[in-house]
Amino acid sequence: MIYARIAGTGSFLPGDPVTNDDLVARGIDTSDQWIVERTGIRSRHLAPPELVTSDLARIASERALEAAGIGANDIDLIIVATSTPDCIFPSTAALLQSKLGIRNGSAAFDIQAVCSGFVYGLSVAEKFIRSGSHKRALVVGAEVFSRILDWSDRGTCVLFGDGAGAVILEASETPGMISSALHADGSHHPILCVPGSVASGQIIGDPFLRMDGQAVFKFAVRVLGDVALEVLEQGGVEVGAVDWMIPHQANVRIIQATAKRLGVSMDKVITTVDRHGNTSAASIPLALDVAIRDGRIRPGHRFLVEGVGGGFTWGAALLQL
Ligand code: ACO
Repeated sequence: MIYARIAGTGSFLPGDPVTNDDLVARGIDTSDQWIVERTGIRSRHLAPPELVTSDLARIASERALEAAGIGANDIDLIIVATSTPDCIFPSTAALLQSKLGIRNGSAAFDIQAVCSGFVYGLSVAEKFIRSGSHKRALVVGAEVFSRILDWSDRGTCVLFGDGAGAVILEASETPGMISSALHADGSHHPILCVPGSVASGQIIGDPFLRMDGQAVFKFAVRVLGDVALEVLEQGGVEVGAVDWMIPHQANVRIIQATAKRLGVSMDKVITTVDRHGNTSAASIPLALDVAIRDGRIRPGHRFLVEGVGGGFTWGAALLQL
């Protein structure tokens, strides 16, 4: 039996933290108190104009490769989850492959599942590895969400940030990934979207992120609870036997409500949203990397990752380090 296990993680946040007070100083009609009370976010990182998504992904990937103790050309599959690709095509994964100096013909493609993108990428990579077709996957969540925000819309611009997280998933005789589940319901697309597109040399429609915050909140809490229970049941693991939960880092109130519904104490939940805001597909691998590097998640620990995002898409995976 071939399993897929995590061999290394890495992450990257560009530039200095931009605090809530910094946003006020930049003229946004908000306050530290409002943002902290409603979301738990205290600061975020904003990529300078010269950095694109594949640059953030490259640094996170190099850190993951170093942690795994392997070279870039040992990778035979690259999956980048992003909603802010460098360009329409080629894929950010192909550009990342080039920036990492990988010349071995590895497969490379992007996944567009917004904030669930990393969970989608992890689950897809695991299926490639378990099939025997590939041995070592680089799965990255990387975003420059600051570029699709309407900075005159205080209801959304304070919530998001830029960053990248990467994981090396490799074939193993022991688990590894225990179970996973992916879902989507496109009928909910209007409550969180960037509706615009590019055609005939012009932006057609609205190029900024639009969100019905309260509808997203309710939807997120419901499906995050459901999908966590689904992967636990599929994996034959009781919730009490899970050492850590790493939910998508969008909003601490969504995280708390989901943990409460599952009966998981908050001291078993990894939260990093306070320091980088919602980095969409990058948020889970960022939090995972922090918790592995600071020694909370240790070899043998079981942990559950779960995400929800525009589409709507949602998914979860249960793993053992
Ligand atoms: N600063 C100060 N006041 C603000 C701000 C701001 N940044 N934004 C909105 N307000 C005001 C509004 O204008 C409104 O004022 P009014 O009562 O005078 O009209 C008031 O605050 C309440 O606005 P609501 O939008 O109703 O605030 P709500 O309590 O719903 O909180 C929030 C908004 C934080 C977005 C909440 O709905 C939420 O957390 N939703 C989840 C969305 C989320 O996390 N999305 C992330 C992306 S989705 C994902 O990753 C799955």
